[in-house]
Amino acid sequence: MSKQFDVIVIGGGPGGYIAAIRAAQLGFNTACVDEWKNKDGKPALGGTCTNVGCIPSKALLQSSEHFDHAGHHFADHGISMTGMTLDVATMLKRKDTVVKQNNDGIQFLFKKNKVTFFHGRGSFAKATEGGYEIQVAGAAEETIAGKHIILATGSNARALPGTPFDEENVLSNDGALRIQGVPKTLGLIGSGVIGLEMGSVWRRLGAEVTVLEALPTFLGAVDEQIAKEAKKAFDKQGLKIELGVKVGEIKSGKKGVSVAWTNAKGEAQTLEVDKLIVSIGRVPNTIGLNGEAVGLKLDERGAILVDGDCKTNLPNVWAVGDVVRGPMLAHKAEEEGVAVAERIAGQHGHVNFNTIPWVIYTSPEIAWVGQTEQQLKAAGVKYKAGTFPFMANGRARALGDTTGMVKFLADATTDEILGVHIVGPMASELISEAVVAMEFRASAEDIARICHAHPSLSEATKEAALAVDKRTLNF
Ligand code: FAD
Ligand code: NAI
Repeated sequence: MSKQFDVIVIGGGPGGYIAAIRAAQLGFNTACVDEWKNKDGKPALGGTCTNVGCIPSKALLQSSEHFDHAGHHFADHGISMTGMTLDVATMLKRKDTVVKQNNDGIQFLFKKNKVTFFHGRGSFAKATEGGYEIQVAGAAEETIAGKHIILATGSNARALPGTPFDEENVLSNDGALRIQGVPKTLGLIGSGVIGLEMGSVWRRLGAEVTVLEALPTFLGAVDEQIAKEAKKAFDKQGLKIELGVKVGEIKSGKKGVSVAWTNAKGEAQTLEVDKLIVSIGRVPNTIGLNGEAVGLKLDERGAILVDGDCKTNLPNVWAVGDVVRGPMLAHKAEEEGVAVAERIAGQHGHVNFNTIPWVIYTSPEIAWVGQTEQQLKAAGVKYKAGTFPFMANGRARALGDTTGMVKFLADATTDEILGVHIVGPMASELISEAVVAMEFRASAEDIARICHAHPSLSEATKEAALAVDKRTLNF
């Protein structure tokens, strides 16, 4: 007889592993099936995020930022550097160590919370009276049975039609995170989140980077004023971003990659680069899940169809994270994982889609929560805006990083905060205050009246809130 579980989670990324831990905390006998493996064939829990996403990209962003500072900014502090060298192999090794620490951390958490882990691919075998049978194929080969199934199978990089990833010359996020030496020239297709983060890493390390973006506007989902400010900074850094392009034939050979493209004026161009990263979005992953065996429904994008509570069309089958609708973010996946485990336990798990923060970890960082000015205009909402530049913030001056601003958008009548947008130093950390404020439905005045430590970047947040009422103190 197959092993019985209350909850089986398929996928051990941020959506899946967190769902499994929460389910186990709630007293369910829980299993998690994940197929990701290291080069040595050993399990590597954490999914895309830990292995080829959030964590390794942030490790390389950190290393490359140190290199950039040492090369370009230390001199401002009176620190001179001579004979500075770059050892990409060590940089990549450090990144791998950081990833491994996270992989091992999740294994430890599974043990601590008594989640049973199966290393292999999980697929539906059949529906039974009490739930579902899941076939595990890989290092573990067996059939297990579960009353509730949580699908958290994530997403894969989207390839350009006719140009598969070879991970040698034409790279997905996977290959982009393990280029063995700094390419002289690097091309990126798509100036979205990966394009900007990966482009920044390799530009800082010395590559000549060109980004080809189909849309005529830069970072269309970002508040326009913030996107403009960010673009100015990227232009200054030498990140070449071409907007409104049409990408044509791509040829990959021994000498690199040649990309035929048409610019916004309709002129034919060719980009010759050593390496090409294709970052044009990601596709939900249901490969090998065998959902057909039980009649699992997908939507027109190939994502698992779910309702607002992450319920699929099948009884007691749930789906979370990148494989369902909504933003493809690790923290969104985690929140859904927790909410589903709590719903299984009869609780009222809940995800507030209006307060999911976004962060782009470039320099300057870009972070936001809630509505943009263009969204409020389109919806006909009457709002007040307040901005405060980091140039007028003492801590930013001391850091030597005064690019950017904090921007508040508040309801014109009630003063409730509707959106907060930041471009500048540590925007990734500063945005948390705005998320908390919006979750508690605070007004801009609430933030303006709270004591913020001096000198701190967070004073720019307070000042932007004051600016909504046109009464900044330091600008
Ligand atoms: P995944 O992390 O994709 O995990 C799915 C897991 O399921 C994988 O381990 C996979 O092997 C496994 N799996 C799939 N099918 C099966 C099966 N049938 N049987 C067993 N196992 C299976 N998000 C952020 O919030 N912040 C960031 O800074 C950030 N940076 C990113 C940088 C890059 C380069 C990329 C590519 C993504 C980044 N993301 C970031 C997005 C983030 O990685 C995803 O949103 C997140 O990983 C989604 O989590 P998930 O659990 O839904 O899926
Ligand atoms: P993206 O959706 O952020 O950006 C893709 C870009 O490619 C868009 O600007 C789009 O207009 C452009 N594009 C699409 N087709 C094109 C074509 N044929 N030619 C030229 N341009 C084209 O997708 P990306 O960067 O691949 O990242 C995928 C997802 O991963 C992100 O949306 C995000 O959810 C997640 N991610 C999150 C990060 C973070 O939170 N810091 C970091 C990296 C990724």
